[in-house]
Amino acid sequence: MEIRPTTNEDFDVFVDTVHAAFGRFPETPVEGGGLWWSALERERCVLALTPDGLPVGTAAAHSFELTLPGETLVPASGVTAVGVLPSHRRQGVLSAMMRHQLAELRTRGELLSVLLASEAQIYGRFGYGPATYTARLAVPRHKAALAAPRARGTADVPSTGSDNDSVEVLRRAECGEILEEVYDRYRRAQPGALSRPHRWWALRAGRPPVSPAPRYVAVHRDADGVPDGYASYSVESDTLTVDETIVTDDAVFTALARFVLGHDLVSRIVFKHVPPEHPLRWQFADLRAGEVSGDTDWLWVRLPDVPRALAARGWFTDGELVLDIDDPFLGEHDRYLLTIRDGKADCVPTDREPDLSLDVRDLGSVYLGGTAPSTLVRAGHIKAHRPGAATVADALFRAERSPHCLHWF
Ligand SMILES: CC(C)(COP(=O)(O)OP(=O)(O)OC[C@H]1O[C@@H](n2cnc3c(N)ncnc32)[C@H](O)[C@@H]1OP(=O)(O)O)[C@@H](O)C(=O)NCCC(=O)NCCS
Repeated sequence: MEIRPTTNEDFDVFVDTVHAAFGRFPETPVEGGGLWWSALERERCVLALTPDGLPVGTAAAHSFELTLPGETLVPASGVTAVGVLPSHRRQGVLSAMMRHQLAELRTRGELLSVLLASEAQIYGRFGYGPATYTARLAVPRHKAALAAPRARGTADVPSTGSDNDSVEVLRRAECGEILEEVYDRYRRAQPGALSRPHRWWALRAGRPPVSPAPRYVAVHRDADGVPDGYASYSVESDTLTVDETIVTDDAVFTALARFVLGHDLVSRIVFKHVPPEHPLRWQFADLRAGEVSGDTDWLWVRLPDVPRALAARGWFTDGELVLDIDDPFLGEHDRYLLTIRDGKADCVPTDREPDLSLDVRDLGSVYLGGTAPSTLVRAGHIKAHRPGAATVADALFRAERSPHCLHWF
C-alpha cells in the first residue's frame, strides 16, 4: 500500500475517490473542485494506492489553531475527507492513512489532531476521543419570553423583542470582514473552538456563514459601534433557524437571542449549535421553553504527545495525579506525574503508583474539560486506583467553561 500526497494532476482522482467512498457528499465537484474542495490544502491531501497503482483511499488535513482551556492557542491538524472505496474496506487502508497522518503531524510540530466523525465507531481505535458536544435547542415563539435577571445590579431587559438599536440586520453578502473579525475574537476565548483560515472566508467555502448560501446576519455592536457578535440565520416556513451565534460576551448573546426570539411571522426558533450547560435555558421565563434534541459529540481529539499536550493547556486548580496511559495504536505505554501549580502543568515520566489508568482515547475526551473523568470511571473505561482519584481528576481537568466547537470541516 502506497500513501502519497495528491498532485495537481490527480486532484480530480482524489475528489472522485472521496465521492465514491461516501456515495454522496455535500458538494459536487466542478471541474476538479468546488468551494469545499478549494479550501483543502492540496499538499495535505493524500491518496492510498494499491500495489498496482489503483487509488482506493483518501485523507486530508487542515492546518487549524485550536483553543485550549486557559485561552491557549495551539496548532492542530483537522482530519477530513477520509474515505475508502467500498470495494477495498476492512483491509487496513484507513489504518495505514491514520499512521501516515500522525507521522506527518509530528513532523510539522502540531500538538494534536482533531476531527468530526461520520460514525462514532471508527476513530476510538486510532486514539481519538469525543471531546466537545453540541445540541439543537428549539423554542416555540409563544414561550420565548426571557426572565428578568435575578442578580442584583444586572441591567433589566425587556422579555422579548430587540430593546435597542445595537443589532443591525445585514445580508450575508454585505458582511465583508465583520464576520471573520468577530469569529476570530470569539474563538480565541472559547475552549474547543477552531480557527477559520482566512482563505475559507475569502473563498466562502464551507457551511453558512462561511459560504455564499443566502443568510441574514444580525450583527451586534458595542457602545463604540464595534461589532462584537453576530447570529446568522434563515427563515423557512414558520421556523427561524440560527446557524451560529458568535459572541465575545454573554450579554451580547442575550441581546442576539432576544433579537431572534422576537422575530415576527415565525412560530419556532431553532438554535442549531448550543453548547452543554449554556445559560440560555435558564434565561427563559419558562424553564421548559427550550426543547433539546440532536445532542451529539462534535470535535474528537487525539493527543500524540501526552506530556506536551498536558503542559500546553491552562489549569484552574492546583493538584497532582499519576496517569498511566496506554496508546495501543502507536504501541506506546507511559506513566506520568502531572503536577499543577498556579495554572500551569508539569508532566514528567514517573514510576510512582498510578492514580488513574486510561487509554489515550479517554485522555482525548477529558482533555478539553468537556467530559468528566469520573463519568468514564463509572462507565468502566478509566480505572481509578484509589478512592477520590476521580474527584481530583474532575476538579483538575475542568475548564473555565464547557468546550464547544461549531466549525464544520
Ligand atoms: C470508515 C472507513 C474510512 C474505514 O476504512 P477501512 O479501510 O475499511 O478501515 P480499516 O480497514 O483500516 O479498519 C480498521 C479497523 O476499524 C474497523 N472499522 C473501520 N470502519 C469502521 C466502521 N465504520 N464501523 C466499525 N468499525 C470500523 C475495522 O473493522 C477494522 O477493525 P479490525 O482492526 O478489528 O479489523 C470506510 O469504511 C469508509 O470510507 N466509510 C465511508 C466514508 C466515511 O464514513 N468516512 C469517514 C469520514 S469521518
